[in-house]
Amino acid sequence: MSDSDRQRWDAKYADKASTTVLPPDDWLSRHATPLAVGVALDLACGLGHNAIWLSQHGWKVDAVDISPIGLALAEQAAERANVQTISWIAADLDRYEPPTNHYDLVTVFRFLDRHRLPHLIERSLRTGGILIYETFSQGQLSRADNHLISAQFTLGPDELPTLFPGLEILFHDETELPDRSVARIVGRKP
Ligand SMILES: C[S@@+](CC[C@H](N)C(=O)[O-])C[C@H]1O[C@@H](n2cnc3c(N)ncnc32)[C@H](O)[C@@H]1O
Repeated sequence: MSDSDRQRWDAKYADKASTTVLPPDDWLSRHATPLAVGVALDLACGLGHNAIWLSQHGWKVDAVDISPIGLALAEQAAERANVQTISWIAADLDRYEPPTNHYDLVTVFRFLDRHRLPHLIERSLRTGGILIYETFSQGQLSRADNHLISAQFTLGPDELPTLFPGLEILFHDETELPDRSVARIVGRKP
């Protein structure tokens, strides 16, 4: 990954002059709303809609993404929303080392890395901390509106919980949303 990934995502985000903040993902708002607020880590945060929602709901958020151009747009959106508790961190998740046993909540949406991310997430959660994760499932590839170019970025049936052997899986769902096919979990670090 890395340089080519950053260039690809920078080019994609450079086309967007400014952004309207999207609403949070339903899987996030549904499962984060009942939690006591604390410190959250949003990985591959993109334009920051979920990080901004968390901040608006009292969370202190570290939001990490490889694209400085995407992060600049996210930061502008956060300023427009008058949100001030987000640290925007430009970093490659192939190398980034978040603090250990630190976060009350880790979130990942529309991003998949089977190799490094699961261990990084389990390590960065404090005991009792929660992971809320949703990304594309294989069903995405046969949708008429599919934009993914490779099956490597989609999850096989029942695969997502198996990537987190160190977490207690509280919820697991694989479903068709109006605009995408997803697998999703909520896990807790015992
Ligand atoms: C499909 S977007 C999802 C963004 C956001 N989570 C959302 O749901 O809207 C994938 C994001 O992953 C980021 N990304 C890709 N490779 C990365 C890497 N190696 N390290 C950190 N971020 C990366 C991209 O810059 C992009 O913002």
